Amino acid sequence: MKDDKEVIILGIESSCDETAASVVKDGREVLSNIISSQIDIHTVYGGVVPEIASRLHCENINGVIKLALREAGLGFDDLDAIAVTAGPGLVGALLIGVSEAKALAYAVNKPLIAVHHIEGHVAANYISHRELEPPYVCLIVSGGHTHLCIVKDYSDYEIIGRSMDDAAGEAYDKVARAVGLGYPGGPKIDMAAKEGDPHAIAFPIGEVRDRPYDFTFSGLKSAVLNHINKARMKGEEINVPDLAASFQEAVIRQLVDRTVACAEAHGIRQVAMAGGVSANTALRAALSEACEERGMKCYYPEPIYCTDNAAMIAAAGYHQFKEGRFADLSLNASPDLKLGMRIGG
Ligand code: KG4
Ligand code: ZN
Repeated sequence: MKDDKEVIILGIESSCDETAASVVKDGREVLSNIISSQIDIHTVYGGVVPEIASRLHCENINGVIKLALREAGLGFDDLDAIAVTAGPGLVGALLIGVSEAKALAYAVNKPLIAVHHIEGHVAANYISHRELEPPYVCLIVSGGHTHLCIVKDYSDYEIIGRSMDDAAGEAYDKVARAVGLGYPGGPKIDMAAKEGDPHAIAFPIGEVRDRPYDFTFSGLKSAVLNHINKARMKGEEINVPDLAASFQEAVIRQLVDRTVACAEAHGIRQVAMAGGVSANTALRAALSEACEERGMKCYYPEPIYCTDNAAMIAAAGYHQFKEGRFADLSLNASPDLKLGMRIGG
């Protein structure tokens, strides 16, 4: 049984290739965190196949929710609300989570909260760092997004910069595929780079003219592909660890330098990171070092909360609960939802 003063939220996430459910207390304490990953199945195809993702979400979602409640030792009656990722993501995948959450909210008579997936990634920081409060600068680096934001308040984001082309995670995945490391590429490049020299190959650090806080990865990606093609044409073997480390170095320089410059320019002393790429060990080390040199505090979620999970959705949902922002049963999936756009209340 739960204490009346506590706010218990069930989070549901199904925007891409993880079916996840989690129970979180007061937006920061995780009581259960169940993730059913489809990665092994999509790996066979070299990337996420949307139709397969939807079918697997459909098969797994009830079991994942049951398990999340069982592990938390709670029942539907104990919940204060049900929070679900409403977008952005794959439309068919999102629809499974949204339909499930609506059906549950109706059946057990609990309020429904529509969460922006990226706001969920940011809120993962509140789970790993109970003391973190806005304002702070947040670098959001996932498979589909690269944004530099000032989080002014729990639901108030100012976007300062964004990628002009690929997202950081997308660049990792494309480079990994080009050197035959497979999907998902981020963790594979991360591992390979540990054995390589980050200064072995001088790849360009992307810059967007007159836009100091924006990012670009397409020139870097082309430079890596050219390097691979040239080596292959000459019959030379590619040193994968050196290539991975040098590519990663160029990505990290761009991300870290712009993030700390943004914090300095805005007089903000707290810097956080969010999204799948924030699990990257070299990026975590580089951002920590850059912040320490400037006397800034640096935050990033524990690795399990960096990639897709439902605890982050429940954590973000908590702040919407506090603000009284609920969705109704007309809620639909919003595959192209932009950061800062509100859905369902
Ligand atoms: O946030 P996320 O789980 O899903 C989206 O919302 O997109 O991010 C997935 C991305 C993938 O591109 C994956 O390759 C990347 O995060 N990623 C990493 C690492 N772990 C996951 N990139 C670099 N290093 C990692 N350790
Ligand atoms: Zn994500």
